Amino acid sequence: MGGNGSVASATEVYGSIKPANDSLGTLYFTDYQSDASQVNVTLHPESNIICQISSANNYDKVQIDGLLSYSNRTEDFDTSEKMPYLSIELTDTMLTVNDEFVLLTATEKSGTDWGFNIIYPKAYTWVTEERQDSSGSYMVVAKVTSLDYSGQGDIEIGGDEDNTFQGYPNDDWSYDITDNTPLRTYADILGKKIGVAAASYRYDCSRNDGETGLVGNQFNIIVGENEMKFDATEPNKNSFNYGGSDAIVWVASRFNQEVRGHTLAWHSQVPEWVSQDGKKNNHNYTRQELLSILKNHIFNVVGKYKGKIVEWDVCNEVLDDDQSIVRTNPDAYKLRPSIWATYIGEDFIDSAFVWAHQADPQAKLYINDYGVEFMGGTKSEAYYNLVKRLIKSGIPIEGCGLQCHLTTGELDTLKLEKNIKRYAEIGMKCIITELDIALANPYSTDALERQAKEYGAITRVFLRNDNCPTMLIWGISDNHSWRQNQPLLYNSSLKPKPAYYNVHAQLRIAANRVTSVEKPSSLDELSIKEIRFYNMTGQLTTNPSGLVIKQTIYTNGTVITTKEIK
Ligand code: G3I
Repeated sequence: MGGNGSVASATEVYGSIKPANDSLGTLYFTDYQSDASQVNVTLHPESNIICQISSANNYDKVQIDGLLSYSNRTEDFDTSEKMPYLSIELTDTMLTVNDEFVLLTATEKSGTDWGFNIIYPKAYTWVTEERQDSSGSYMVVAKVTSLDYSGQGDIEIGGDEDNTFQGYPNDDWSYDITDNTPLRTYADILGKKIGVAAASYRYDCSRNDGETGLVGNQFNIIVGENEMKFDATEPNKNSFNYGGSDAIVWVASRFNQEVRGHTLAWHSQVPEWVSQDGKKNNHNYTRQELLSILKNHIFNVVGKYKGKIVEWDVCNEVLDDDQSIVRTNPDAYKLRPSIWATYIGEDFIDSAFVWAHQADPQAKLYINDYGVEFMGGTKSEAYYNLVKRLIKSGIPIEGCGLQCHLTTGELDTLKLEKNIKRYAEIGMKCIITELDIALANPYSTDALERQAKEYGAITRVFLRNDNCPTMLIWGISDNHSWRQNQPLLYNSSLKPKPAYYNVHAQLRIAANRVTSVEKPSSLDELSIKEIRFYNMTGQLTTNPSGLVIKQTIYTNGTVITTKEIK
């Protein structure tokens, strides 16, 4: 923000202020409507007031006819203890010792626990003081104390850390091209769920090869891409069709996989008898009628798969895409208009969770959305606010899903991980539910390599965070994806792509880190007293098969526990 003249009302400053832009002048924050009222100017971490100085009588000033305060909330809705900057820049000047510059005045400064981080020019020696003038107003005054250069100007803004994007580590998946260990084996070792959206209507679920084979052998959890949505399970009022959803559950039972349910209350794929477009109440249902429609649906569908489906996306995509409201009201969120939100109200979410929990108390219940992946986005902030509200209301929510429908170049690993971590702080799981990464430019030579590196980076975030136990890919092969530009792990001939190999590599490396527990060298001399095997549910077994826990007991009582594949 720049220019001289005036700004009224309340101003939140995240970026820089430069009075009079490149010429010199005073920027006023004042309310011309009434002398009485005062404006509020809030400076956020690393905001920067840039004042240019030409001479002791000609320099930039900021005058705030009101309250000057500091908020530690960043533009990314993160918190930071970094102070605002006040930068002094010189135009072609000749200053003298004791020249003073009242760079900023404010009727009042709120709080004493903050101050400016002064950025000095690379000339002269300076002191900068906070003072009060005779009327008690707050001033920031800079003074030249010597014509010699002190080196004060060598400290630059943010000089201490560089968190700019350094590119992706040189992931190496060459070994994985010949390692036929399925993804799920390594995920099992790590106690993680690697999953995929299966589409029973696209391929023969009775086979062990082709897409079905990949779905079954590579993943330890699956979700129906469309089979468990409202229009599929209750195409007509109170008449349920479980053909597709049963197929998904059947595939999972064949391949010893878990199933997650997607989704019970959504504005899309609702049958015509509920709403012609998921938004309009073209049947003029009352609030009560819509509540009972949703309740009946949830009790029937969740009840049908009680004990067979481990978790549900109870509500999907409830947030409006425009969440600018959080800029002015940091704890707010705005629901998208839908047959449920508009004609029942926000409490359709609470009711849906409570009913799902009553229908299957063991099932873990999630809310799911897109555009909420990265710390800093207004929708991501609104999502966090909604989840906090549900927790505060005592709703039985296990966590939230980040759909992660991305395009290469969009990923910000740091912001994704920060986002997932903050949910851990409020006791919430934060899982990756519908990952696909389309190629921004399919024709560039390194397109698939870049895609592979981004899949690898997300897999590492998934593996590093205990409150992110599950990562699902939204489909098997590019030709059957809901979107263009080859977003998935397998190409249209079902050949694994570099993206598959890098996800494999990250799982393998992490799993090997777990299984290769170093044996203290001294044990080599000792004789082994006993070796016991336990299955993954902890039962002692004399006929170990598949993934087992091996306990080696040495004569000196040392016990080494490792995981092995028998
Ligand atoms: O089953 C009918 C078939 O009978 C008909 O011949 C065919 C022709 O139109 O349509 C088939 O239904 C399609 C269905 O996919 C099954 O292929 C629907 O038209 C089509 O709209 C539906 O698309 C699904 C989309 O959700 C609907 O919104 C995509 O497969 C599915 O990947 C996508 O998944 C959503 C998640 O549920 C929520 N998050 C975003 C994600 C992508 O949009």
